[in-house]
Amino acid sequence: MWRASVLTIFPEMFPGPLGISLAGKALASGAWALDVVDIRNFATDKHRTVDDTPAGGGPGMVMKADVLGRAIDAAATDGRPRLLLSPRGTPLTQSRVEALSRDAGVVLLCGRFEGVDERVIAGRSLEEVSIGDYVLSGGEIAAMALIDACVRLLPGVMGAAASGAEESFTEGLLEYPHYTRPQVWEGRLIPEILTSGDHAKIAAWRRAEAERLTKERRPDLWEAFLRRFRSGSKTG
Ligand SMILES: C[S@@+](CC[C@H](N)C(=O)[O-])C[C@H]1O[C@@H](n2cnc3c(N)ncnc32)[C@H](O)[C@@H]1O
Repeated sequence: MWRASVLTIFPEMFPGPLGISLAGKALASGAWALDVVDIRNFATDKHRTVDDTPAGGGPGMVMKADVLGRAIDAAATDGRPRLLLSPRGTPLTQSRVEALSRDAGVVLLCGRFEGVDERVIAGRSLEEVSIGDYVLSGGEIAAMALIDACVRLLPGVMGAAASGAEESFTEGLLEYPHYTRPQVWEGRLIPEILTSGDHAKIAAWRRAEAERLTKERRPDLWEAFLRRFRSGSKTG
């Protein structure tokens, strides 16, 4: 079973949104498992201290390598990837999410304060992963985003009605626009082709829209898509 182990100083934040809707139902049905590890349990003093002042001075606090090392050693006893949520990390992509969801699960370390002692990153072979170029106050929301993105791809979680096959990024393109009833809303119509019943034309329209949106909004993705297309592979 796919398992997420989350190391945090705020265990009460979990499952939080992951206990609701698709991920929550999948959690309740045993499609995936969640272990939440309170990092403070691995502190040794009576105040359960997990942080200290930065070597060299400066503002804020740093999470201690000795405490984190013990927490990781207790949680990560199998071969799952150990990821540190970090704004410095490799940006998370849909293809990485797909790969992680095919694996046995993840061990996620949530930073707080100014971050974690650098030695624990090397000493426990942590891979730094970012969910975007902005700074959150802690790794927990980032961990939830990563878990949610993985869990929805697990076999059976999305069900027959919904499919990830045509979603944004799956083919390297953003997704085409969606519409539903009413046919006219505030004078705006559903594009005629979508109500034509001609499935081949609908597919062609959707593809053209996906390409148009990607080209307009994400020139970086569009260039990458064209490169793959030219080299004969549309996946990756
Ligand atoms: C206030 S941030 C630390 C920011 C750090 N001092 C820096 O400038 O890079 C505290 C924690 O939030 C998490 N975090 C913040 N932004 C993130 C992002 N974009 N992606 C993943 N984790 C993030 C990390 O775990 C980080 O250790």
